[in-house]
Amino acid sequence: MTQNLAALFPIVKAAPVVPVLIIEDVKTAVPLARALVAGGLTALEVTLRTPAALECIRAIKGEVEGANVGAGTILDEKQFDAAVAAGSTFLVSPGATPRLLAHADGSPVPLLPGIATASEAMALLEAGYGAAKFFPAEQAGGAPYLKALSSPIPGVMFCPTGGVSLKNAPTYLALPNVMCVGGSWVAPAAAVAAGDWAAITTLAAEAAALKAV
Ligand code: 3PG
Repeated sequence: MTQNLAALFPIVKAAPVVPVLIIEDVKTAVPLARALVAGGLTALEVTLRTPAALECIRAIKGEVEGANVGAGTILDEKQFDAAVAAGSTFLVSPGATPRLLAHADGSPVPLLPGIATASEAMALLEAGYGAAKFFPAEQAGGAPYLKALSSPIPGVMFCPTGGVSLKNAPTYLALPNVMCVGGSWVAPAAAVAAGDWAAITTLAAEAAALKAV
């Protein structure tokens, strides 16, 4: 098995933060994506947690220049295929089951599977993977825990997600095994509901300017 890192790395490394989006109303998808891209965040993870998610991916793909739209919360093969068909350029899963990894094998659209332990990281290496989501990052042990994995297992690069914020992101970004972080803080539900796209562009710009400390 292999993971298409040649496709994945340019997408997720384009900015320090990958917004994690839970979009309820398809009408907000395009202006939300435009606001994030205007702030400098181009890799957008639309989670498959709402009935509108696939339509949102199609809309962003078709209408938002500069966006790399991906699908998150991929739990099974059916969701994998639907997300690819909708035009996703990357896929994110909270976990890494043998079935999902087997299904992803050979797909040109890269999968970023989720893991949280050394054994899971070793299993991913055995499966030909070199990049993973560290999930749920803060709850699983945060940056000190992830740092402890970097020395024995340097071959897996992570996107920590779950409880990551503007405040704690720089500590993650300073780790040698972190390629980006993911988070929902750049698209607060209240700002999306209010159509406050300027506020979201400001949050995105702050996130895009993050530096490792
Ligand atoms: C998720 O998949 O829900 C992500 O981990 C987002 O977590 P956050 O809302 O804590 O950023």
